[in-house]
Amino acid sequence: MPVHVVQHPLVQDALLTLRDSRTGPEEFRRTATRISVLLATEAMRDLPTADRVVETPIGPAQGRSVAGDIVVVPVLRAGLGMLDAVLELIPGARVGHLGLQRDETTAVASHYYSKLPRGLGDSYVLMIDPMLATGGSALTGLELLYRAGARNVRIACIVVAPEGLSLVEQYYPDVHIYTPVIDEGLNTGLFIVPGLGDFGDRLYGTL
Ligand code: PRP
Ligand code: URA
Repeated sequence: MPVHVVQHPLVQDALLTLRDSRTGPEEFRRTATRISVLLATEAMRDLPTADRVVETPIGPAQGRSVAGDIVVVPVLRAGLGMLDAVLELIPGARVGHLGLQRDETTAVASHYYSKLPRGLGDSYVLMIDPMLATGGSALTGLELLYRAGARNVRIACIVVAPEGLSLVEQYYPDVHIYTPVIDEGLNTGLFIVPGLGDFGDRLYGTL
């Protein structure tokens, strides 16, 4: 499976701030946006472009503009922490929402909400979910997207565990994953080690 580990110093710096247990919700949110801009930029590196000419005050200038339909799909609720960043980069993107919730003891993801744009077949779909732990949520999200007609899906995460990567690879070997890091693994509570704790709780102050 194509896994892109984004080593940019600014990404790694932001990751460390997110990991730090002293980082409160306000800084956590700002940092999540900062790292997501950089990750989404990487994840969209292969977008198609179309040649265009514009008039500068001095004369014509040739250039390229993004061509194609882009759909960003945050996985609720933690994925919302990455959404503003992506929309800042791609203001014209369409947005779908998937509501998934891990059971606190079994970590089995249950699906409680979907609202996806129509006509995903020719779209570049970026699913955003900061944490890929057991991989159950990612798998369910991908299943819902492909069932809705998506064919070109990539995922941006902030921390992934090897266990989750293996699971996604088993079922979706062609899906590209963009992440700053592959962590050590999962603990007995199925949290990523060292990870950063519960992303949604830290983002929204619901600890
Ligand atoms: C977190 C996270 C992922 C999921 C990852 O969400 O945002 O969606 O866990 O774990 P998995 O790979 O084991 O499925 P959670 O279910 O805690 O919900 P929340 O976003 O509402 O906090
Ligand atoms: N979800 C989180 O927010 N953190 C983890 O470590 C695992 C799942």
